[in-house]
Amino acid sequence: MPDVVDLRSDTVTRPTPAMRRAMADAEVGDDDYGEDPTVRALEEHFAQRVGKPASLFVASGVMANQIAIRVLTEPGTAVVAGRRQHVVAYEYGAAAMNAGIQFVELDDVDGMLQADDVRLARQASEHHQPTVSLVSIENTHMAASGAPWSTEGLRALVAAAGSVPVHMDGARLFNAEAATGVPASEWVSRVATVMCCLSKGLCAPVGSLLAGDADVIAEGRLARKRLGGGMRQAGVLAAPGLVALHEMIERLPEDHARAARLADAVAQRWPGSGLDPAAVRTNIITFNHPQPDKLLAHLEGYGVLAHAIAPSTVRLVTHHDVDDAGVARAVAALRDAPGGDVS
Ligand SMILES: Cc1ncc(COP(=O)(O)O)c(C=O)c1O
Repeated sequence: MPDVVDLRSDTVTRPTPAMRRAMADAEVGDDDYGEDPTVRALEEHFAQRVGKPASLFVASGVMANQIAIRVLTEPGTAVVAGRRQHVVAYEYGAAAMNAGIQFVELDDVDGMLQADDVRLARQASEHHQPTVSLVSIENTHMAASGAPWSTEGLRALVAAAGSVPVHMDGARLFNAEAATGVPASEWVSRVATVMCCLSKGLCAPVGSLLAGDADVIAEGRLARKRLGGGMRQAGVLAAPGLVALHEMIERLPEDHARAARLADAVAQRWPGSGLDPAAVRTNIITFNHPQPDKLLAHLEGYGVLAHAIAPSTVRLVTHHDVDDAGVARAVAALRDAPGGDVS
């Protein structure tokens, strides 16, 4: 077992030996000229995997979200999204700066948006409020303990959105697929664009993909350039991304099983924390705690790292670099956690 059990995020995963070999062997060209064969292979593979005509390789999940919002909206319009979604709460106001939009924030307690709330948000533009140009959702929803969307919920949301396009922040799209058995392509067929991170549970060192119609992705390529995100011999980064998509999706259920064990330990230690272990279906656990700093310091004493994502919200994330022994250590640390009782 490593010295530290790092449950802060699945972004801490390190590239696998197969990824490092693929990086060393990658065929490359100038991707800004569209000439990197490995980047092209990655973009084609992802587009095919999620059932969209085209996709674009970008540096990060934030960049993919920002490009989608820039391309699908106009300045001065509104984007409907859940108040705890990454695009709203964790991108430092990027969408306001890059796209000149404002968010209409809906409740997303269980990770999903309610169709009626979306309908009301659209109707508001008949009452002197900005036109809704986009609905953005998150699947899985990080702050809602990694909750995956249901297909019925998505169908209702898309119906409520009507002519307004829907963007899916699928940073952990394949965790959603693994947890529900719903093929990623089924969700993605209902939305205009989807982004997916290679650098989280899939262990690639860098990169995310944005998929959509060919014209949207062509616009996205320009938006990427304007953001300074054009890359040159990026095949060395795309190569581990291909390994991620080919080899790392099938092991995600291991992370989900380990997260379920941690969720049970949290719920037993703090029954009032608002955490329902049955609601933890993927690799993320979020729960309320009055003194996150004290809890994080206690865990660190056991060699376990966790993270606070809001003033009273602690997050634990399982991933490839956390094994059964690591989870056992974290469970013991949670059982022994002092004070800070939650009611
Ligand atoms: C749901 C979600 N969307 C987007 C991102 C952004 O990804 P990146 O850190 O690669 O920019 C994250 C990162 O943690 C995330 O959790």
